[in-house]
Amino acid sequence: MKYAVLGTGMVGHTLATKLVSLGHEVRMGAREADNVKATEWASSQGSQDGHGTFADVARWADRVIFAVSGAQIETVAAAVGEAAVAGKTVIDVTNPLDFSNGMPPDLVPHLSNTNSAGEALQAALPSAKVVKTLNTMNHEIMVNPAVVPGSHDVFLSGDYEDAKGDARDLLAEFGWSEPIDLGPLAAARGTEGMMPFWLRMWGAHGSANFNYRIVRA
Ligand SMILES: NC(=O)c1ccc[n+]([C@@H]2O[C@H](COP(=O)([O-])OP(=O)(O)OC[C@H]3O[C@@H](n4cnc5c(N)ncnc54)[C@H](OP(=O)(O)O)[C@@H]3O)[C@@H](O)[C@H]2O)c1
Repeated sequence: MKYAVLGTGMVGHTLATKLVSLGHEVRMGAREADNVKATEWASSQGSQDGHGTFADVARWADRVIFAVSGAQIETVAAAVGEAAVAGKTVIDVTNPLDFSNGMPPDLVPHLSNTNSAGEALQAALPSAKVVKTLNTMNHEIMVNPAVVPGSHDVFLSGDYEDAKGDARDLLAEFGWSEPIDLGPLAAARGTEGMMPFWLRMWGAHGSANFNYRIVRA
């Protein structure tokens, strides 16, 4: 499978590297085609053409992962453009965090409560099939749930069942056995809204290596 990973931060690096290790073809996207981090990542994988602009790599790919600054989701969606993702499964792992007032960050008001980064992405790219997942945990756990001992959970939501099937397949490749399907993409309001708690739990725990476990009656 050809995956475009949009994002040159730690999440983009972790996801892109794991996808390569699983045998997928991967290109990393950034604002500029010659982005240093993307170029270095591609070189580290032995690839000269494994990077490009957000639009270039999305157009090339079968599936597209958004691992960019969540506060900039609309800007990046506009840079990608509808034609590059039409009909494609788009996996969104972002959180709409505003760091301008220091730590811990706030949720971006127009992307939270009655909206979400996931929904904003779907609205900006209506012919894509957006699935929200993996945003409720540290990037190392995303691709290796065994970092946290015992059973714990990953959530997904989206408006397209076929795209959610693609996301479930990817999650299984990462080692997640039973993702919790929260239904339509609007459920991203809930999982992105877990971030203010997650950030305080991180502070209290002193480590980002923890996760949510849903215990049912
Ligand atoms: N860190 C974690 O473990 C974790 C866990 C769960 C979810 N997340 C979410 O995953 C996403 C990625 O996190 P991260 O820490 O790896 O990276 P990040 O620093 O949040 O984002 C880096 C990416 O955002 C792009 N970007 C930044 N400002 C931009 C702007 N003004 N316009 C367009 N693009 C812009 C950068 O583009 P360039 O490459 O061109 O610079 C880069 O590719 C975030 O939404 C975060 O909340 C993170």
